Amino acid sequence: MALNTDKIRENFPILNSSKPPVYFDSACMTLRPQQVIDKISEYYIKYPGCAGRSIHSIARKVTENYNGARLNIQKFFNAPTSEEVIFTRNTTEAINIVSCGLGLKKGDVVLTTDREHNSNLMPWIMLSEREGVNHKVVESKRDNTFDLERFEDMITRDVKLVSMVHTSNLDGYTIPAEKIIKIAHDYGALVMLDGAQSAPHTKVDLKKLDVDFFACSGHKMLGPSGIGMLYGKKDLLLRLNPYNVGGDMVIDTTYSDYKLSGLPERFEAGLQDYAGAIGFSAACDYIKGVGIENVSRHEQSLNKLMTEGVKDIPGLEIIGPADASSRGGILSFSVEGISPHDIVMLLDQSSSIMMRSGAHCVHSWFNAHNLPNGSARASVYIYNTKDEVKVFVDALGKVVDFFRKS
Ligand SMILES: Cc1ncc(COP(=O)(O)O)c(C=O)c1O
Repeated sequence: MALNTDKIRENFPILNSSKPPVYFDSACMTLRPQQVIDKISEYYIKYPGCAGRSIHSIARKVTENYNGARLNIQKFFNAPTSEEVIFTRNTTEAINIVSCGLGLKKGDVVLTTDREHNSNLMPWIMLSEREGVNHKVVESKRDNTFDLERFEDMITRDVKLVSMVHTSNLDGYTIPAEKIIKIAHDYGALVMLDGAQSAPHTKVDLKKLDVDFFACSGHKMLGPSGIGMLYGKKDLLLRLNPYNVGGDMVIDTTYSDYKLSGLPERFEAGLQDYAGAIGFSAACDYIKGVGIENVSRHEQSLNKLMTEGVKDIPGLEIIGPADASSRGGILSFSVEGISPHDIVMLLDQSSSIMMRSGAHCVHSWFNAHNLPNGSARASVYIYNTKDEVKVFVDALGKVVDFFRKS
């Protein structure tokens, strides 16, 4: 079903200003609809208390809404149980809970792709330095797609964890996760998916995927910033050592001993971001209302138009697979001889187009490909329109022309 973008845009306050921006930076952070803002305000206005500790009626209401948010998010991702849904600050924290807790040791191998966000790269580099863990990178094929054959060559019984970006923020490409998980499990390896860019854009069915750990962030899917999720299979979560310890994650303590809480509490030390969790749940409801399949279809149709529109711009190279349908809502590109920062600055100044430039926290990939300035990245979401794509294509042509002539 085609999205009714006019109706959707009415829900986003910033798009209803007299001069709305062309917001093409949703891979970094999406805009938030009024429905999410209202739920967050409702918490601060009507029941601004703490869950789980006090037993007065305000606290009980927080507990009810916090638990309700977890249940709703469990359903959204079809996780087997709500205790397997851990609230975190973001994807980065979720990945760190796993990397710090899994007890990987010298000689254990961790496999990643060659296009990891620093959030799913730094933990493994650090573990290599500290513990002697062997981090290996599965290089992509020449056409920038996942090399399943290479992966099969690299997987052995020493691989303890395959930790990969599900959908890349570099170019929007989604790896064949189901096949990867099946192969990894055949070798006894666990799999974690960095779902920061897949959760907002494609149907993620955790039961069906049979993935061991999955991480994502609320702020990339219409939710507030500062809230995210780690999903883990129950038996695996119970094997992790929590690294953030303190209040609310223990049942009892003496001066020298403690008894850890069960799931999910043992990974949620200290008072939590209740408004964030409630807002995250409201964001899931909003996406459910739009229909995640409609979200994917809409982004792909806009990306097809963008890709068509820019392909003849001299010196422009698209990063990732040439076919727009393999790149979700992301168009990442470099233009020979022109800094991506200059392009993005001028697009903002001339046409209020908001894009991102640089390495997008995937420095390793740009270094390996000798592109020290990174790329310019346009990333679209449910509130973007064909008209905005036209504005972007026209403005980009003019900007490139301007730099060529100056
Ligand atoms: C693929 C990917 N992984 C991880 C992250 C990190 O997300 P956060 O900053 O919310 O932890 C991002 C953010 O851009 C991302 O795009």
